[in-house]
Amino acid sequence: MTQKTAEPEVVTKATNITWHDHTVSKRERSELKQQRPCILWFTGFSGSGKSTVANALESALYRQGYHTYLLDADNIRHGVNKNLGFSAEDREENIRRIGEVAKLFVDSGVIVLTAFISPYRRDRDMVREIVEEGEFVEVFVNTPLDVCEDRDPKGLYKKARAGQIKGFTGIDDPYEAPEKPEITLHTERQSIEESVTQILDELTARGYLKA
Ligand code: ADX
Repeated sequence: MTQKTAEPEVVTKATNITWHDHTVSKRERSELKQQRPCILWFTGFSGSGKSTVANALESALYRQGYHTYLLDADNIRHGVNKNLGFSAEDREENIRRIGEVAKLFVDSGVIVLTAFISPYRRDRDMVREIVEEGEFVEVFVNTPLDVCEDRDPKGLYKKARAGQIKGFTGIDDPYEAPEKPEITLHTERQSIEESVTQILDELTARGYLKA
């Protein structure tokens, strides 16, 4: 498995553009919604349970009256990122765009949940960097690879093992686990409900949700 070493080449191509500060601020939008906006960034192997837990968490937050939005891989890769594949460069661009979109949601006052493998530590850290301190909450869905492979909900591990998919994360492509995630889940031994409760409790303890 290879590590990524090259520096990112994210450049602003357009010239003669200026940033506009809007009259209504993030703070005002957040106050109107009575919530603290942030990105709940789920990372982990395919089949680890990112989307499942993020979905269940969004339902729980919605029922409690929070304004949320869930960005997840399969949907985003059908639309805004439909031109991207799974090379290291495309995965980086995938995460960069998601990060920028998530940042806009945070600016709108929303709690945004994202569910992407996001295998490279540097790409996740880049998203952490572009938002304000405390706005990025990394949720490591730490399900062991063999459990994900046993689950194989989309039959993709089987295809990867058979050589029909090249560069599949965990099989012949790297996954760099977070070093200091804010929250770590072990879905192989906790139910979806337990994972949701754990996240709600940790978000409350850290002041993201009302006690
Ligand atoms: S990421 O690496 O760029 O963050 P992302 O989360 O958007 O990946 O997409 C991962 C999903 O795409 C997987 O859950 C799986 O369904 C599908 N997929 C297709 N090919 C691959 C591959 N080579 N590696 C990982 N996932 C793949």
